[in-house]
Amino acid sequence: MTPDRSAPRRRARLAALGGYAPARVVTNAEIERRVDTTDEWIRTRTGIRERRYAAPDETTADMAAVAAERVLASAGLPSAEVDMVIVPTATPDALFPATAAIVADRIGARRAAAYDLSAACSGFVYALAQATALVEAGMAGNVLVVGSEVLSRVTDHDDRATCILFADGAGGALVTAGDAETTTGFLAFDLGADGSGADQLVLPVGGDRRLAAAGGAPADACIRMDGPAVFRFATRVMVESAQRLLDGLSMGIADIDLVVAHQANSRIMDHAAERLGIPPERLFNNLELFGNTSSASIPMALAQARDAGRLSPGDMLLLVGFGGGLTWASSVVRYEPLGEEHQWA
Ligand code: UT7
Repeated sequence: MTPDRSAPRRRARLAALGGYAPARVVTNAEIERRVDTTDEWIRTRTGIRERRYAAPDETTADMAAVAAERVLASAGLPSAEVDMVIVPTATPDALFPATAAIVADRIGARRAAAYDLSAACSGFVYALAQATALVEAGMAGNVLVVGSEVLSRVTDHDDRATCILFADGAGGALVTAGDAETTTGFLAFDLGADGSGADQLVLPVGGDRRLAAAGGAPADACIRMDGPAVFRFATRVMVESAQRLLDGLSMGIADIDLVVAHQANSRIMDHAAERLGIPPERLFNNLELFGNTSSASIPMALAQARDAGRLSPGDMLLLVGFGGGLTWASSVVRYEPLGEEHQWA
């Protein structure tokens, strides 16, 4: 891309959404057959009933490309108009080339610059912040942000503390330049990192496509998590970050139409909802069917919320991500779509 430095003042707009879930459904019953757990324990402690796994030959880039195409179709935007592709992911196809470059090529975004972003489950909102900055600085007009993960390939399927949670999928958004007079766009971000908790959630390897042929990463290279410590961090940070944003904007939870948080555990979301006073109908939860897909979880949830009629043009959203790093990232944004086409299925 060639940055347009002479652009007039403009606001970044959340203009389209799209998602993709791989076909293979893995139920709690299937996990019960492998590790010492029960469907009841998983449902009551996490809210998850089933999740999706990528096909053996399916990679993070493959899934991201489908989600990206759905975002563009939803917006009615030709891929040639995309200036930048950012892929937040913990499971890139390789350390380089960037998965984003593969996605840009796959969708025909020939003039786009492309890079990956590493902020674990906070990655999608971190990437939205970067997209906003690029658009509002006049560096880009159309930025595609696509979170995509093949966590099933880096999960120790004999570790009952993690194998019940992690899953695969992709979701994306188009951040585009809107007229400053008429666009609300992204009102604020709250981003943070606390590396003192770095060892509480660790993934030593990425999503190398050769792992599929090997049946996944070796156990000592898979995700390691101190579940209760991350749980405490997540419940605290979700409330604090959301409250900080709302206070800074002189807004209350009554001004928010829908809260879409990282889908890690229903108990984390329910705790935050209680503390922040979010009524159930304004908290989106798709954990039951999709589990924890890290950087893909918020955009997958957004696209599903739209398709389920829970998210309408003009709605004010509160997005909250948290995860490895430890990191967190929240935003308040108005959903201002370019198109109406629903692309999830
Ligand atoms: O996406 C990144 C962010 N990640 C998160 O936010 C995850 C945060 N953590 C969690 O969601 C929860 O900590 C878990 C779901 C991972 C675990 O739930 P928990 O309520 O924190 O359980 P725990 O680790 O404190 O374990 C309680 C008990 C233990 O048994 P004892 O020692 O009390 O006898 C565990 O061994 O539950 C046992 N346990 C299980 N039992 C049946 C742990 N995993 C399982 C299991 N099935 N799958």
